[in-house]
Formats: sequence, structure tokens, C-alpha cells
Amino acid sequence: MSAIAFRSRIACSIVLAAALAACTASKNDNVGPPPPAPPAPPAPPPVDPNKTAADKTFDDGQKIFRSDTFGDEAFWTNTIQLNKAIATVDPTTALSVGLKVDADALPASLVADIKAGKVDLKAPATTLALLDLDAVVGVKASSDGAGGIKSLGITCALCHSTVDNSFAPGIGKRLDGWPNRDLNVGAIVSLAPNLQPVATLLGVDVPTLKSVLTSWGPGKYDAEIFLDGNPTLHAPEVNSSATLIPPAYGLRGVNMHTYTGWGSITQWNAFVAVLEMHGQGSYTDTRLDNSAKFPVAAAPANHMGHTVPPAGQPDLVTSKLGALEFYELALEAPTPPAGSFDAAAAKRGEALFTGAAKCATCHVAPLYTDAGWNMHDGAEIGIDNIQANRSPDGKYRTTPLHGLFAHDAMTTNPAAKGRYYHDGRFATLDDVVAHYNTAMSLALSPAEQSDLVQYLKSL
Ligand code: HEC
Ligand code: HEC
Repeated sequence: MSAIAFRSRIACSIVLAAALAACTASKNDNVGPPPPAPPAPPAPPPVDPNKTAADKTFDDGQKIFRSDTFGDEAFWTNTIQLNKAIATVDPTTALSVGLKVDADALPASLVADIKAGKVDLKAPATTLALLDLDAVVGVKASSDGAGGIKSLGITCALCHSTVDNSFAPGIGKRLDGWPNRDLNVGAIVSLAPNLQPVATLLGVDVPTLKSVLTSWGPGKYDAEIFLDGNPTLHAPEVNSSATLIPPAYGLRGVNMHTYTGWGSITQWNAFVAVLEMHGQGSYTDTRLDNSAKFPVAAAPANHMGHTVPPAGQPDLVTSKLGALEFYELALEAPTPPAGSFDAAAAKRGEALFTGAAKCATCHVAPLYTDAGWNMHDGAEIGIDNIQANRSPDGKYRTTPLHGLFAHDAMTTNPAAKGRYYHDGRFATLDDVVAHYNTAMSLALSPAEQSDLVQYLKSL
């Protein structure tokens, strides 16, 4: 019964005696004014085309970050022939040098077989199968059907993603932006059968190059070695010139990037894709013409600050820089799990951080880097300028501190735990705070230092 008809019935019962005939007529729903149309559903809010583009750019950037090799197979396969070495590596060995497996890329049948112990993790053929499934994080490769690898390239995710170990150690869901502190880049590269071109570039022999690569250890890489060819230059606290792989999350609002502030995210991405991963693209940087600082980069034969794709070949990097930067900026720093720090102590630590310990003079919340030009001399933080001097500005960039706990939260190698500052010279956060206490003459009590550490763990 319509609302109109119902109301008319009430009206009818009131006036029943007087107007029975009229009421009878009005009971007929076909008579009288038509019921009003139901209210139109609210118009959807207008779609902001910029938001639509942002979603698409995020998706594009994620794909590039995870899967794009920028054509770097030309180096990893054709030049140093790393494909030949990886084809002989079994999954257990691959996991032990820090390569990670994306559990979401494994079909259910394979997952069941692994759980049932039916998959041979000591067989290189299993590595090939995992590569064909695109399950090895940051490595793009395809088998040749005869026990070899046809082509192999690397992506940003190799160093800047790890997995959550939810399936097994080293096997789980991807965590983009979390540094892979287990990854032993030097050990992997030193397997390549043809390292002569790299040795020639650096002006050393292959055994020397191999000993340098071996000195890096897990979670470290030396991005500057290909510019200055100076692999023996390092602080006495550590035994190599390599730096820790930093997180690629929590970077929104941060001005200069890398430990030594090489430039913006997009400058660094172009640099890495072209000069480090050896993708096919353009990289312009006249700072690399400084032959005193960057003898390898500035050498006429290399002229790295003026790199363009080989004649007639397309640029496979430049068009991807926008989406790639957008994706990195979108990566949130993870939140520390409840119970991983003492909240009351962290609260006291926060007061010290912004007060007596003077940390917030550089690490300004909520960015935890300087709000503005975030570059400092080594002396300001009580360290040498050795690594700083390998960069254009000769300074260190104030490290943003969000998600510190996640640097090593997923590491499976005990040797990869902890390690702070660019070269990992401080094993623990306690060591970092003790260093500042001395270097900046803060006179913090042991209890205050411990509160400060709890605060750092809460970020
Ligand atoms: C072989 C390992 C490796 C690969 C591959 C790699 N990076 Fe890095 N990345 C590093 C290291 C090591 C540093 C620190 C360099 C330094 O400070 O001198 C770094 C620094 C960075 C930074 C600066 C972070 C900050 O705190 O400012 C960003 C951003 C970054 N990489 C993004 C990328 C992107 C995007 C790619 C792919 C195009 C990529 N990286 C590929 C190892 C790697
Ligand atoms: C003068 C500026 C400045 C002050 C003051 C300062 N820092 Fe730093 N901080 C830096 C710079 C620059 C780095 C990078 C050093 C490196 O990588 O070698 C850094 C690095 C760190 C790191 C290491 C992060 C990582 O991922 O390796 C921590 C932790 C840290 N600072 C905490 C603190 C605390 C706690 C205080 C106060 C006691 C403090 N900082 C005071 C500039 C500063």
C-alpha cells in the first residue's frame, strides 16, 4: 500500500460516517495525484582527474620499481655474464646470499610441494623455475630451456625490497622500500665469469676487484666506486668503502637524498638506472667532470656525466623517472609493532630528543631530517668526512629516522642485524646515542641515553 493510500484510509475512518462514498472513491490508487518519484540518488562527487592520474602513476611506478630492468641485461648478461653463474646456483645458496622469493608469485601447487618437502632446494633447476615464475625479487631472468639462463637483468627491488618471511625465511610477501640488508651484492657480482671490463674500468686486476667485492658484506654496496675508482678509501671503523642499502620509504618531504646528498630522488634514480644498473638511458651531470674527485667518471673514455643511449637505441629510463619517483614518495615508513619498545621510556626520550640532547636541531619532526637544506659537515656529528668527500658537496645528509626498526626487522642473517650511519660503523642504536653523547658533550645519564634509544625505536 502506498503512503498516500494509507493516509487516505486514516482520513476515511475519521470522516467515515459523513463521506463514505467519497472515501470509497479515494481508496482507488489510480485516482488522484501520482505518488512523487523517489528521491534521485545523490550525484557522485566529481572525479578529480588529477587523482585518477595519481592512482595510475602509482601503479606505473610500482611496476617500474619492481620489474623494470631499463635494458640492463646488456651489462649483466652480455658483458659480465652473471646469467651463467646464477644458472648454477641452487635456491638454498641464493637465499643465503640474501636473494628473496615473492611467495605471491608461487602457484598453489608449488607451495603445496614445497610444504610437503617435494621441491629440491639444492637443485639449480629449482632456481631456474623460480626465475621463470618471476618469483625472485629484483631479478628478471628467463631460462633457455636447456638448464641455462637466456637473459638476466636487475631492478630497483633487488636492493630496496625485502619479504616478510611469512612462508619461510627469505620467502614471503614483498615489502617495497624496506632495504634488503641480507643481500650480499659483492658476493653475487663476484660470481660473474667476466669481470674484466669492470676491473679495466677501475684500473685494477680481477683478483683485486674480487677482494673489494668480497669486503662489502651483506646489505652494502659502493655506488661511488664506479666514479672515483677508490675502493680502499674507508674510515678505520669499518673494512670497506661500501654504504648500507638505505630504506626507500619515509622520504616524502625530505630534501636531499642519499647519505651524502647527491641530489633529488629523480636525480639519483636516473644516476642509478643508467650508471649503476647499466640501463639504457641518458644521464647528465657536469659535476662528474671533476677529474680530481671522480677520475673514472671524468675520464674521456667514460665521460659518465654525459651519457646517452647507444646510437639509434631508445632511452629506456627517462620516461619512467616521473612514475618511479612518485611511487617512492608514496612508500610509507612502517610503524613499529606494539611491544617493540617501552612507550613510557620513549615518551621521556622524546623530551630529550627535542630538548637536552639537541637531536631535533637537525632531525626535525615529523620529517626527522632538517626542514630545508639538510646537509652537514662530518665534524658536526663527530665523524670524518671520508665518505662525504666522495660526493659533490662533501657533506652528509641528515638521515630521516622513521621506520628505523624495519632496517633489519626481516633479516635472516645475524651478521646483517643493526648497523647505523652510512657505513654501519655503529652496531646498535645504543652505540649511536653513546657516540652523540660524547661527540656533542651532552652529559646524558645512562638512563637518559636508554630513553632516547626507546624513542628512536618508536619512530
Ligand atoms: C645494488 C643495490 C641497489 C640497487 C639495484 C638500487 N639501489 Fe638505491 N641505493 C643503494 C645504496 C647503497 C644507496 C646509498 C647510496 C649512497 O648514499 O651513496 C641507495 C640510495 C637510494 C636512494 C636514496 C635514499 C635516501 O635516503 O635518500 C633512493 C631513493 C634509491 N636508492 C632508489 C633506488 C631506485 C629507484 C633504484 C632503481 C632505479 C635503486 N635505488 C637501485 C643500493 C641500490
Ligand atoms: C648536526 C646535525 C645532527 C644532529 C644534532 C643529530 N644528528 Fe643524527 N644524523 C645526522 C646526520 C648528518 C646523520 C647521517 C650520518 C651518517 O650516515 O654517517 C645522522 C644519523 C643519525 C642516525 C642513524 C640513522 C641510520 O639509519 O643510520 C641516528 C639513529 C641519529 N642520527 C639519531 C640522532 C640522535 C638521537 C641525535 C641526538 C642525540 C642526533 N641524531 C643528532 C645529523 C644530526
